[in-house]
Amino acid sequence: MAKLLDGKIVSKEILDNLADEILFLDKKPCLAVIIVGEDPASKIYVNLKKKKALELGINSIVIEMPSNIAPAQLLNKIDELNKDEKVNGILVQLPLPKHINKDLVLEKICPTKDVDCFHPYNIGKIATGNKPYVYPCTPKGIIRLLEYYDIKLEGKNVVIVGRSNIVGRPLSQMMLNENATVTVCHSRTKKLSEITKQADILVSAAGKSGLIKKDMVKEGAVVVDVGMNRNENGKLCGDVDFEEVETIASYITPVPGGVGPMTICSLMVNTYDLFNLQNRI
Ligand code: GUN
Repeated sequence: MAKLLDGKIVSKEILDNLADEILFLDKKPCLAVIIVGEDPASKIYVNLKKKKALELGINSIVIEMPSNIAPAQLLNKIDELNKDEKVNGILVQLPLPKHINKDLVLEKICPTKDVDCFHPYNIGKIATGNKPYVYPCTPKGIIRLLEYYDIKLEGKNVVIVGRSNIVGRPLSQMMLNENATVTVCHSRTKKLSEITKQADILVSAAGKSGLIKKDMVKEGAVVVDVGMNRNENGKLCGDVDFEEVETIASYITPVPGGVGPMTICSLMVNTYDLFNLQNRI
C-alpha cells in the first residue's frame, strides 16, 4: 500500500517556520491579489490565500474588479501596484474574462513582484536553466513535497500529464533542470497508458477525474495528483483513481491535502522571498 505524500503536514512545517521569521520583522511582507469577475472557484482560492496570509502575518490587499472592466483599467491598476513600495508580490487570479488578453496582463507585472512566476522574463529564466526571482507555486510545491520524502529526481523517468502554463510546462522544465528525464503528455497524446507506465514519478495535472487508473501505473511508482475536480456528487477529487492506484504506487498524494496546501505554501514563501529581495536582506 502506498505511503501518503502529506501536503498538510509538510506545508505546516514550512509555514510555521515562516511565521516565526515574519514575527520578528518590523515591516511586514505584502501580497496584492487582483480578482476580475465572479468566478466562484476563483473567489474561493482568493479567500484561501487571504486567510493564509493573515495567519502568517503577511499583509494582503484584495482588489476586486467587475468582469466588464476595460483592459486598460486593469493594466493601470497593475502599474500602480508595481510602483507601490508597500506591495511585494502581485497576483492576478486566472482565468480572466475573454475580452482581456491574459498575456498582456501578466507581462505588465514587474518581474521582481511576479509572485506566481508567470512573467515571460521569469519563465524564460527557468526555460534556459537559470533562476527566476521565484519559482511557480504548484511546481515548486510538488518538488518541495518530493524532497521532504527524500524522493530524488536525478535520472528518474518523470511523466507529466498536462501542459498548462501554470503546472505542466514549468514543472517539466524545473524537473529537467534537476536532471530528470521528462515526458510531457496531453490530450492529443497517443497510447497514453503505455507512456505513463514507464514513469518512476507520474504527475497528473490534466483536470480530468478518473483519468489515471491502476493499469496506467508502474508498480512502485510515485504518483502526484494535481487535479482539483468535482465528481458527480460534488465531492472534490483529483485526476487519479486513488483507491485503485494506492494499491500499486509507492507514494501517492491525496486530494485534498496533497498538492493544494503545498501550492498556497509556496505562494506565501514567494511573497516573503520577494519582500527580502526588494528590501535586500
Ligand atoms: N488560477 C488557478 N491557479 C492559479 C495560480 O496558481 N495562480 C493564479 N494567479 N491563478 C490561478
